[in-house]
Formats: sequence, structure tokens, C-alpha cells
Amino acid sequence: CGIFGYIGPQCDTGLMVLDALRRLEYRGYDSWGVGVAVNGHVQVTKRAGRIGDASVALPEASIGFGHTRWATHGGVSDENAHPHLDCTGRFAVIHNGIIENFRALRARLEGAGHVFRSETDTEVVSHLIEETVRDSTDPETVVSAVRTVFGMLRGLNAIIVLDTATQQLVAAKNVSPLVVGRNENASYIASDAVALVGHVDEVHYVEDDEVVALSASGVRVYDGQTGEPRPVVFIPLTLQPADTSLGGFDHYLIKEIHEQPRVLRAIAENYAEPVRRLAAMIRESYGSFLIGCGTASYAALSGAYLFSRIARRHVNFAVGSEFKYQEHFLTERSLVIALSQSGETADIIEAVMAAKRAGARVAALVNVPGSTLDRLADFSIHLGAGPEQSVLSTKAYTAKVAILMLTAHVLNGSEHVGREHLWRAVDGVEQALAPASERRVQEIADRIADQEHCFVIGRGLSYPTALEAALKIKEVSYIHAEGFAGGELKHGVIALVEDGTPCIVFSPLDETRDDILSGAMEMRSRGGFIIGVSPEAEEVFDVHVPVAEVGDASPLVGVIPAQLLGYYLAVRRGLDPDKPRNLAKSVTVK
Ligand code: G6P
Repeated sequence: CGIFGYIGPQCDTGLMVLDALRRLEYRGYDSWGVGVAVNGHVQVTKRAGRIGDASVALPEASIGFGHTRWATHGGVSDENAHPHLDCTGRFAVIHNGIIENFRALRARLEGAGHVFRSETDTEVVSHLIEETVRDSTDPETVVSAVRTVFGMLRGLNAIIVLDTATQQLVAAKNVSPLVVGRNENASYIASDAVALVGHVDEVHYVEDDEVVALSASGVRVYDGQTGEPRPVVFIPLTLQPADTSLGGFDHYLIKEIHEQPRVLRAIAENYAEPVRRLAAMIRESYGSFLIGCGTASYAALSGAYLFSRIARRHVNFAVGSEFKYQEHFLTERSLVIALSQSGETADIIEAVMAAKRAGARVAALVNVPGSTLDRLADFSIHLGAGPEQSVLSTKAYTAKVAILMLTAHVLNGSEHVGREHLWRAVDGVEQALAPASERRVQEIADRIADQEHCFVIGRGLSYPTALEAALKIKEVSYIHAEGFAGGELKHGVIALVEDGTPCIVFSPLDETRDDILSGAMEMRSRGGFIIGVSPEAEEVFDVHVPVAEVGDASPLVGVIPAQLLGYYLAVRRGLDPDKPRNLAKSVTVK
């Protein structure tokens, strides 16, 4: 979920919060809410649904906060949207995470006469604060109450309490991220540094064992255990407003797809040193594991194939949420390579913490510097892709695959070959994004937009690409798309191929070519409409999508038409390409 809070001299706080929430909406968009302090009470405006262009009348205030929700406990409704108040209306709370023991806390509070207005786990916090602070109007008492109450909550949580009496925002977190920022006049807090761009030049990433308090006099930080004040260290915020704007594109998804040549070029130019270091870590380890969730899992699987094919090295692969069932293989000599755009995905963070407990080393491929994963890892490679604001991951995916491909070549002693293939891929991605190529994909989208099903096949290096292509198509267009290893088709799925069913076939000029074309033929014989993504045309293709021949970097060029297809299918079907239903950009709950 997205969080933003402000305290300072401006009186249009509510509108500022609303505006910041629009920027954070990719973190969750089931519902939203804003709370501002007015005459000793928190005035709350909250609604189910997206913020969109909602123009709501909000009272003047100089302290306030807001939240965009991705529902976990409690359905999507106005009442369940955050903030949540205590019984008196003095305190309001917004929260990210899941309070695992909320049932017991709620039962006790209800027994003591507290009346709850929502079904959420969050609401226990406002009542616990009310119970702990009582009538005190001492700011330090409120800070200490937040510390005590946070200590009662089980799970990976972040909470912010707005207290109208002491005019402060007090926050604490465990894993779930929070960042504070300040300028000469005002202080800000957010779940994500992107929301602070344009407001502040320096930030402090809140640590797990801290409580932070924002008041008119600035930011104070306390030790979460002892409550003693701590010095607060701010670092420069390097993001620029241009990084987060649409830059002339209609949607972030298409903007970010088009940023890929730049991202890959930077990797080809600048990543020799970090890639060598990652290769050395793999060499020194006894058992390496690549893990990721969603799109990052397909980048990880791509890595497993690249290491096997290029470096003749077995690197295990697991999706983040399944890794805990393989943890018994971890030793002090293991290496976990965690892939994540946001660096906040709870399933990954949990896996990394388990790896650390087992004494294993952790390397991260992560796009957001300062994120939880970045800070937990022994060694991080920053993807350098810039903010990814569409919920669909595109540029972070190709960045991860490029880095893993280079690493495999370093392990094989053929670094220059890896770099050469990557440079070819930069050109190849540019060609795949040229206006004529994009139009071709758009025509395919027009042609298949009314279909219910779509199948995607690839073998070897192209198998993870097929899985990622299917994900790109289904998550944004809601067309049921399934990716398969080409050889598996005949073992069941072919039963679903009917006259006109779109079948995408990845056919690079590698060892998979003959077999994958046989698979294409099998689908065509059952009426499949074959869309061939390949450097060369083939008779079996009903439509040929040409891509450049780029050697081991074929996953990088192959995925581009699939990303474009997802985008154009969504546009054609009248859907929002940046915010598919039910999804969120970073899933900070398990
Ligand atoms: C969510 C997003 C996916 C993303 C996955 C992993 O489910 O909707 O697009 O691939 O999380 O995110 P991460 O930030 O860890 O790469």
C-alpha cells in the first residue's frame, strides 16, 4: 500500500496528500483515504475505488496523511479504507502489512468497551494508542506509546499515527518500508521515496529499530528498544521529477518499455565490476539459489538457464514464496541471489532473512536503492532502470536478465562475448521498438483482441521468456494466456488449441529451433494461429514478428514484442495498462 504524510506551514495539506497518493497508487488501488488535523480532531475522507481524478473538498490543515490500499484483511469498502480512528477522534492510524495477532488484540479491546468501525487488522492500533496515551498531551508520551504498541504487533508492519493533540506524526516499522524527508520548512513521510520527489532533497530511510516523530520543529528519531533519542542521518534524494513523469507517453507501461535500450546500454557500459563480483560470489559458494516473484521469478529462471548453458554451472531456482520449503539446503556456504524490482516483496524479504539466519550469503539484483532488500543483502547490484511506475515490470526484467547473462559469461571466462551479445541486444531492442515494429505488434493486437485464450511456447533460454510473455499478456489484457515449454504442449495443452487460437512461438536461431518449429506445426495442424517471434521467417508462421539475432541475449529481444502486445491488447480492450485489476506494484504482505 502507499503512504504519504506531511507536516509544515502549507494549509492545502489535504490536496498535497491526495496528489502524492496518485503517484503512489501503483502500490495499491482498491481504496484510498486522507486524514487531516482540524480543531483537535482528525477529519477523514476515504472511499473504495481509485483516486483517479477525485476532487474532494478537504478542510485547511497543516498536518495530514493518506493511504492507498491493497486489501488483505477486510473487503474493499469505504469503512475498511485507511485512516482508522480511535473512539475519541484524536488519533488516526494508517498501516502497511498484516498484524498477525490482531484477533486477540481486538477481542481484548472490545471487551474493554472499544467500538470498532471496520473489519481491518489496522484499527486495533488506533484503539491501543488511545488506551496507552489516555489523556496525556505530552509529545514524548505519545512517542513512547507508539513504541509500546508497535511492540505488541506481530508481523511485518509499518504504522503511522497522527495525533491532533500533540500535532505530530509518529511512525515505526518492521521490514515494511518508510522514508522521511525534510526541507527548511516541512517534514514528510512516505512508503516510497518516489512520493517525496519534488518536495525534498534529502531523506532518511527509517530503520526497523527506530521510532520517528515529525512535528513543526522537524524530525526526531528514537531508539525503538530504549526510547532514547538518536541522531538522524539524512542522505541526498537522487531521483528527479523527470524520472517520474510520463514524458509525452500515454502510459507509464509504454514509456518504460521504450526506456529499455537506455537501461541495457548503461549495463553494457558500466557493470563490469559488479558483475565480476557476483561471479566471484557464485564461484566461492557451494550451492547458489536464484529467487524472485512474479516477473522477477522469470528473470531468475532465465538466469538458471543462462548459467547452465553459458557457464556450465548449476544454479538452483525457486519462486520466492516456495523458497522456504527448500531452506533445509541452506548452509554457511550457500549463496542466495534475490531478484526484485522494488526490493520490498515480502516473500523475498522473508526468504532472505531465513538465508541470513542460516549463515548464507545474500546477493541482490534490485532496482530501488535503499530498499529493504538492498539493505539486507551482503552485496547488491542496482539495476539502474529508474523508477518503474507501471504495475507491470518491463525494464527491470530485461536489466536483470542482462546482468545474469553477463555474469554467466564472466564465470565462463568469456566476458567479452557476453558484452558483445549485449551490445547486439541493445540494437535489437531498439529495432523491436522502431515505429514499424511497434505497428506490426499493434496490428496483431487488433487481430487477437477478442480471443479468450492464448498460448506461448519456447524452449531452453526461450522457455522463461514464454512464461514472462504469457504473464505480460494476461495480467494487463485479462486474456487467458499460458506459457509452456515447447515440448510439454503435446502432453495436454494441445487439447485446448482450436481454430484461430493465437499461439506465440519463440524461435531464436539456437539449438531449440527445429524442435520448437515442430511444436508450432503441431499447433497449426489443430487450427492455431501461429505468431512466430524469430530472426527468420518460417512457413509455419501465420504472422512473423522479426527480431534481431543476438546470440545468448535472445531473451532480451524476444520479450519486447510480448511487452508491446500486452500493452496494445490492454489499450484495445479499453483497460488501464498501468493498473490492472487486483494487482499492486510491490506486494509487501505474504
Ligand atoms: C507484484 C507485481 C509484479 C512483480 C512482483 C515482484 O506481484 O505485480 O509485476 O513482478 O510483484 O515484484 P518485485 O518488486 O519483487 O520485482
